[in-house]
Amino acid sequence: MSAAAQTPADVLVAKAQDRSALIGIVGLGYVGVPLAMEFARAGFRVLGFDVSKAVVEGLTQGRSHVQDVPSAEVARFTKEGTFAATTDLARLREPDVVSICVPTPLSKTKDPDVSYVLAATNAVKQALRRGQLIVLESTTYPGTTRELMLPALEETGLKAGEDFFLAFSPERVDPGNPKWNTHNTPKVVGGLTPACRRVAMAIYAPAIDRLVAVSSTEAAELVKILENTFRSVNIGLVNEMAIVCDKLGVDVWEVIEAAATKPFGFMKFTPSTLPGVEDADAQLSHAIHRAGGRDQRRDARILGWTRGRPPQRAGARGAGQQTAGGGRRLQERHRRCPREPGPRCDPVAAAARRGGVVSRSARPQAQA
Ligand SMILES: NC(=O)c1ccc[n+]([C@@H]2O[C@H](COP(=O)([O-])OP(=O)(O)OC[C@H]3O[C@@H](n4cnc5c(N)ncnc54)[C@H](O)[C@@H]3O)[C@@H](O)[C@H]2O)c1
Repeated sequence: MSAAAQTPADVLVAKAQDRSALIGIVGLGYVGVPLAMEFARAGFRVLGFDVSKAVVEGLTQGRSHVQDVPSAEVARFTKEGTFAATTDLARLREPDVVSICVPTPLSKTKDPDVSYVLAATNAVKQALRRGQLIVLESTTYPGTTRELMLPALEETGLKAGEDFFLAFSPERVDPGNPKWNTHNTPKVVGGLTPACRRVAMAIYAPAIDRLVAVSSTEAAELVKILENTFRSVNIGLVNEMAIVCDKLGVDVWEVIEAAATKPFGFMKFTPSTLPGVEDADAQLSHAIHRAGGRDQRRDARILGWTRGRPPQRAGARGAGQQTAGGGRRLQERHRRCPREPGPRCDPVAAAARRGGVVSRSARPQAQA
């Protein structure tokens, strides 16, 4: 094919194949830095963007602030000129690909706070040029890519799927996981149009072991929601089980380990998603970070207490404010329905005898 006949999509696919595409990563945190390193390892040049001067200065000096990325690697890529970081968002015009990995915390009302995504989209829009691929990686609600990003980017007069490309590809980082990392964790990719998906697949292919294409950005966004909901439901379930076990005087970990021997239809939620006794503080902060919600914080604390740690008193630590209420509620619940003497006790019957409370999710398990 002659160069003149090549579409912007063809050009970008070719740049992915010969690694001449410059990759931009916006948001150099737990998701952005490992992704930047994967692209650099695959042979691409990477330009990282962050609004934090401290983050950019640290990386530029070869210091990693992300536990899964060694400083030596950042230093090597920086020295080679494969990786650079900047706070200058006007340089977003330079990369062929812009991957957005900014935070999406939950607001007080538990809605996703998309202000960081909007700010990053606005910065990309100011610099958008023909031939760029824009990928959102941040966790968000379905419709964000099409309803928030697309109209803003098309205000430039450029058309998605023809002049530039837009995709959603949810990150699946699990910080500290010794087995699964950015490189070997399959990555879901949904494009706004078939051309967008084609280009995004071509760009990620050299850096990630296995890509999973889905039919739309909404499908990719919903994949992430399903994964997060699955995790939250299971954390909630196992924490309820911990309460039941505590009342019955049974070791919840023994129950979890034994249940996990079932070779199908059961997934064990391991101590990396549940805070344990040994490194309770580290696990608790990890669970809080991963869960990102008030109920899960409470759940995490409930389990810590169940394993022998009393719930923190109200006001003992700033971040504990929300969970202290959960602890008080739990203490109250426990006072109304104290520990049963042995494993043969039926918690539903015991609670009924006392006029106490057994959570709804405990009933079917106790009766089974
Ligand atoms: N870290 C995890 O384990 C994890 C797990 C699941 C989902 N996620 C999701 O991944 C996304 C990124 O999370 P993270 O943990 O990497 O966040 P992080 O807080 O570690 O890093 C985000 C970085 O983005 C920068 N930033 C903020 N606004 C910016 C802007 N407008 N332009 C440029 N940089 C900006 C911040 O300074 C920060 O350095 C979020 O949507 C999060 O919910 C993260």
